[in-house]
Amino acid sequence: MQLPADIRARIEAEAEGLPFADLRRAVELLSERYRSGASTRDLNLAPSFRTAAYMLTRFPATFAACDAVMREAAARLPACESLLDLGAGAGPASLAALAHFGPSLGEITCVERDPYFARTGAGFLPHARWIQSDFAKLKPLPPHDLIVLSYALGELAREEAARVVEAAMAACRVGVAIVEPGTPRGFALIESLRGKGEIAAPCTSGAPCPMKAGDWCHFAARVERSSLHRRLKGGTLGHEDEKFSYLILARNETRTASARVIRHPQHRPGLIQLRVCADGAALDVKIPHGDRARFAAARKIAWGGDWDLPTAPRTGEPTRSA
Ligand SMILES: C[S@@+](CC[C@H](N)C(=O)[O-])C[C@H]1O[C@@H](n2cnc3c(N)ncnc32)[C@H](O)[C@@H]1O
Repeated sequence: MQLPADIRARIEAEAEGLPFADLRRAVELLSERYRSGASTRDLNLAPSFRTAAYMLTRFPATFAACDAVMREAAARLPACESLLDLGAGAGPASLAALAHFGPSLGEITCVERDPYFARTGAGFLPHARWIQSDFAKLKPLPPHDLIVLSYALGELAREEAARVVEAAMAACRVGVAIVEPGTPRGFALIESLRGKGEIAAPCTSGAPCPMKAGDWCHFAARVERSSLHRRLKGGTLGHEDEKFSYLILARNETRTASARVIRHPQHRPGLIQLRVCADGAALDVKIPHGDRARFAAARKIAWGGDWDLPTAPRTGEPTRSA
């Protein structure tokens, strides 16, 4: 995906007037923190560099992940008219929600403790209400239809993250969407939160997760890189793939996917193989070319998409044909 042009222009504006070498150093420091999963709070950087580094290198990627999650939320949940974005940063989750829930999402509240991120976000979302505060101190959380926590829980202790999600479930009228890095650590946090509500996505049911030790459920969102981004991060590719794990919890029962594609589909001559998760089982589905309609459908499916299994699989069943 490509970021909307007005957002790209605003992001580049954050870097204007900043010396390139210092900005690159800021990007390196920030990336190092993200890679290690450590907090970025005490990063010893001037606010203008910290904000520009985040906007240039992290915002496009988190926006792409949120875009994928909000597309799924809009497909699985009832219509939402209000959104509470906790740890909003500069608001990528709110922007993505607006794109998928549309203008009926009339009330957006963003809670962000960092004044520089909040100021930048208010430029993107001027009609949102921005609360510069610690979301853990908002008790109770203000009721909204949908509550989103995008890359905001990872810095908290596991028990505290669980308490925040419980508070969000108590305050939401429709559901809660959580996005974390698509790493073993990010997935472990997501998995620990599955019991906090009715699961709408990506799982197809509340059955125990079939991921075995050493494996983790994650997805990828591709985003185009600007030339400044490439120069700052020293890469040559025109895109990057943001890996993310997510969970959408609903207040009431929802219609989940029949099966979720959990790896890149494998295309072989005359055969497409999908690794899917369905009702607590991870299994490989083989669709031969001769099965014309399903083969055509499988050609269009991507990692993260829904696959319509004809019948419910038996838990633990390793392989089946379409
Ligand atoms: C990794 S950034 C993610 C920002 C944004 N949600 C995104 O997806 O790009 C985490 C953000 O959460 C904010 N944050 C973390 N804990 C917070 C808290 N307890 N109250 C308010 N903001 C918080 C941080 O200031 C930071 O802007």
